[in-house]
Amino acid sequence: MKPRITRRDHGLQSMITDCPNKYLNTYFCGQNVGIMSRNKLQKFAEVRSFPNVYENFHPMIPELRGENAEIVEMKGKWAEKHFGNQHPITLELACGRGEYTLQLARKYPERNFIGVDIKGSRIHQGATIAIEEGLTNVAFLRMKIEKINNFIAQDEISEIWITFPDPFLRESKSNRRLTSPRFLDSYKNLLVENGIIQLKTDSPELYAYTHEVLTEYPGVRLLYDNDDIYAQALDFPDLEFKTYYEKKHLLDGRTIKYVRFSLDRI
Ligand SMILES: C[S@@+](CC[C@H](N)C(=O)[O-])C[C@H]1O[C@@H](n2cnc3c(N)ncnc32)[C@H](O)[C@@H]1O
Repeated sequence: MKPRITRRDHGLQSMITDCPNKYLNTYFCGQNVGIMSRNKLQKFAEVRSFPNVYENFHPMIPELRGENAEIVEMKGKWAEKHFGNQHPITLELACGRGEYTLQLARKYPERNFIGVDIKGSRIHQGATIAIEEGLTNVAFLRMKIEKINNFIAQDEISEIWITFPDPFLRESKSNRRLTSPRFLDSYKNLLVENGIIQLKTDSPELYAYTHEVLTEYPGVRLLYDNDDIYAQALDFPDLEFKTYYEKKHLLDGRTIKYVRFSLDRI
């Protein structure tokens, strides 16, 4: 029997238990998720009950859902409503399983961290670890980064890490690269004055592209640049943290590049 799926079935639990098939072709919460494994659907349902995960179900609807899919208003209120303190907030964009977010959060309990990614099953892993370890300075945001200004206010962020983002090698997709001018416009708005942006990548193409953009973009202050960070002792200890993708790239013999810059509002 086919499961009855409503467009706004936030629980999903009944659907998962009732459905006899391993794979489900479904449409929920405004997103066509196509063919999805039972395991992934289970994670989607679970993540919805997590107190440290917020989701934007549809990029065209500027609405954020928190624990148990309750609509929440977080823009400008992350410190007060989620973290309960005024500590500076670091964003990790394209966080995947959130390794950087978790490692930084363990090292800096006096700072707050938000990992952002579109993939719910990856966020599920990071958020589970944060809950298990009692890392109250960590939150995750599942959404398209293109829409980040809908949910984070001007000057709300002190630092951004972009960790091994997809390089989108085809020229026609260059505006999806997370260091393209339209993303820099958006970061400039989120960041406090002198807030820093840090890119770690294995991709020579993305690294070269980022250089081109930073040369042209107004108000860039390049603070540090290294095309092979492990060739000598690390200049910043936080660079030692490794994500899932970084470990894979290192096994493949790829070199890791790092750029650190800030954007003046001019
Ligand atoms: C290559 S993975 C890197 C993940 C993690 N940082 C790591 O190093 O293991 C790139 C991640 O970026 C996410 N991503 C790419 N474009 C995105 C976008 N526009 N909005 C949100 N997430 C995005 C993907 O879902 C994926 O998890």
